[in-house]
Amino acid sequence: MKSILLTGGAGFIGSHTCLSLLENGYEIFVIDSYINSSRKSLENVLKILKKKYNRNLKNSLNLFEGDLKNVRDIEAVFQKANEVNKSIEAVIHFAGLKSVSESMAYPLCYWENNFYGTINLLKIMEKYNCKNIVFSSSATVYQTKINQLLNERDKCSPVNPYGQTKLAVEKLLKDIYKSAPSEWRIACLRYFNPVGAHESGLIGEAPFGKPNNLFPQITKVAIGIMSEIKIFGSDWPTPDGTGIRDYIHVMDLSEGHISSLNYLLKEKPQMITLNLGTGKGTSVKEFIRTFEKINNVEIPFSFVERRPGDNAFVVADNSFAKSILSWEPSRNIEDICRNGWNWQVMNPDGY
Ligand SMILES: NC(=O)c1ccc[n+]([C@@H]2O[C@H](COP(=O)([O-])OP(=O)(O)OC[C@H]3O[C@@H](n4cnc5c(N)ncnc54)[C@H](O)[C@@H]3O)[C@@H](O)[C@H]2O)c1
Repeated sequence: MKSILLTGGAGFIGSHTCLSLLENGYEIFVIDSYINSSRKSLENVLKILKKKYNRNLKNSLNLFEGDLKNVRDIEAVFQKANEVNKSIEAVIHFAGLKSVSESMAYPLCYWENNFYGTINLLKIMEKYNCKNIVFSSSATVYQTKINQLLNERDKCSPVNPYGQTKLAVEKLLKDIYKSAPSEWRIACLRYFNPVGAHESGLIGEAPFGKPNNLFPQITKVAIGIMSEIKIFGSDWPTPDGTGIRDYIHVMDLSEGHISSLNYLLKEKPQMITLNLGTGKGTSVKEFIRTFEKINNVEIPFSFVERRPGDNAFVVADNSFAKSILSWEPSRNIEDICRNGWNWQVMNPDGY
């Protein structure tokens, strides 16, 4: 059985990917500082598996509380894995801070966590001869285009510190790959807008404090924790005047990680960059209307000024990912609304 290390594995995307990896027979190691997550997410992953397969996979999930800013915390995981003869074959590197607005207020903190943390991780990976990594990058690295799908060859020019840290890590990975191209297998996955929750309602997105993204705001308004959605701009050059984004169900995204990992491990050493999105755009208004219809709830909204750095249209060209991975998103906006609402109703206060 292959052992995979997930940094930030207790977080939103990490916990759903943990579930998919365990379902696919992988042994998992997780390092998380819990700065933006709860221990309960991975307990619930085990509950889902117990219910579905009547199997207790607790022994396949090895948890370590630790911070990537502390190189010793990372080494402790690799050491432990070696001691128990389960040396780590690959890393999926989710750990990072992800709020655009916070990154503008605290750039040092974002650079230290996202960039320096990755340097520490790569140092230890080299030391333990682990040269396979899947990195959580983001569509925020792109310079956006008007009404055109973004593809991996498009120009990158992030407009905020969060996006800068993601692009900097991609560049660092490129240098590392070039230093030993016959050894490294690297995938940079540029996520578009991951949303929704596992259909069980036991794991989902549980942001600390006021959510920054649209979907958790919609579910918070629906349940009465927030009073309304403030839509940034009503005059974008789109059919209904609101911004268009590419929303991908978190389970489709998590399955994209399994496909990327399988691809990397079976193919020759290489570095690939892939857009993980659906290729379909949904406007803010359409998203709200769909949520209302599917879940029979009302979502009040009002319009405020556009945010600096925002764009009308951010949608993936996902044809490269679809062509090389045996992967394709299979869930739609309705599934996202249904599963996300189920999660919110079952867990009104998060974990
Ligand atoms: N959710 C999105 O919209 C989105 C979009 C594009 C890219 N990403 C990237 O995907 C990754 C996962 O995102 P998510 O939505 O699951 O976020 P999340 O905050 O839910 O998960 C990140 C996890 O990393 C942990 N973490 C952060 N810094 C750490 C450190 N220094 N040491 C150890 N653990 C640390 C957090 O506690 C959390 O559990 C992030 O790198 C994020 O930047 C997310």
